[in-house]
Amino acid sequence: MASTGELTLRPVRPADRDRVTELTREVWDGRDYIPRVFDRWLSDAGAAFEAAEIDGVVVGVQRLRPFAPGLMWYEGLRVAPELRRQGIARAMLEAAIEETREQRFQEIRLATRDEPAVRLFETAGFKRMVEVQWWRGLRMEGGEAARMPDGADARKLWPFISTSPGIELYGGITPDMNGARDLNADELERLAKNGLLRLGPSGRAVALLREAWGQNLAVSLLAGTGGALRELLLALRFEADADGLSHVTVNLPPAHPAQDDLKASGYDFADAERSAYIYSLSL
Ligand SMILES: CC(C)(COP(=O)(O)OP(=O)(O)OC[C@H]1O[C@@H](n2cnc3c(N)ncnc32)[C@H](O)[C@@H]1OP(=O)(O)O)[C@@H](O)C(=O)NCCC(=O)NCCS
Repeated sequence: MASTGELTLRPVRPADRDRVTELTREVWDGRDYIPRVFDRWLSDAGAAFEAAEIDGVVVGVQRLRPFAPGLMWYEGLRVAPELRRQGIARAMLEAAIEETREQRFQEIRLATRDEPAVRLFETAGFKRMVEVQWWRGLRMEGGEAARMPDGADARKLWPFISTSPGIELYGGITPDMNGARDLNADELERLAKNGLLRLGPSGRAVALLREAWGQNLAVSLLAGTGGALRELLLALRFEADADGLSHVTVNLPPAHPAQDDLKASGYDFADAERSAYIYSLSL
């Protein structure tokens, strides 16, 4: 490392707010979410929000959050713009991996869409699990929202979902950017209990929802094809309208067969150039 002092990690403190705001100011054209979640992250005892310091100055932040049995979610990695390309992020990530290993987690997962970060994670041994692109459908007036199954009904959907065309493109997980869990009957039941499953006609299409970041309904996974899926996609646009949300976002792996159904249901390809990825490191 080119800096003189040693890199140390410690919990982020309230007094770090201005410095953290400063080091996220230019990230994503000034639209970094970290200043918005700073207070919540600070008070969340279930996760480790860490500051990296050199000579008493905060040079970076990162967060480790247990999100499912044996699974740690890694997020919020930022390094001060004036100190980049000196190995700080790599040292922070290595410390995070070590910490997670010591706590006997089996795997670390993360989501990213940034090229430098992709290189960092791949050279640290992370494997890509899934790539997703964003589609968007605007709210639409006048129709019925889709049916929400209960937990027991949700479990019964597993045989249908696990054999749905294109399901293999999801790499065995739900591509939820807040924590990508394994895709199985348990996960379907959990989603249903949280009101995050939607069904098309006769259960021949299913949408898995995730917590949205903005004023939208957010879909992390689609199963089914053709007429049933198109009806479901329209029903999601109706639901957005009924809930006073502006649109529906769907993240979908490239070349997934649902692309045609999205187009036919009035959805647009929202950002063609920037895929997002979920990565995993087995410990
Ligand atoms: C991504 C980020 C954390 C990297 O921090 P950093 O301290 O500069 O990274 P390091 O010096 O430890 O570099 C580690 C590796 O990352 C990759 N990398 C970092 N910056 C890069 C860049 N500008 N272009 C290409 N690769 C890059 C390289 O593989 C690098 O290894 P190398 O220097 O041996 O080639 C930093 O650029 C940042 O805060 N960016 C804005 C926010 C962001 O994208 N965060 C990640 C979200 S998941």
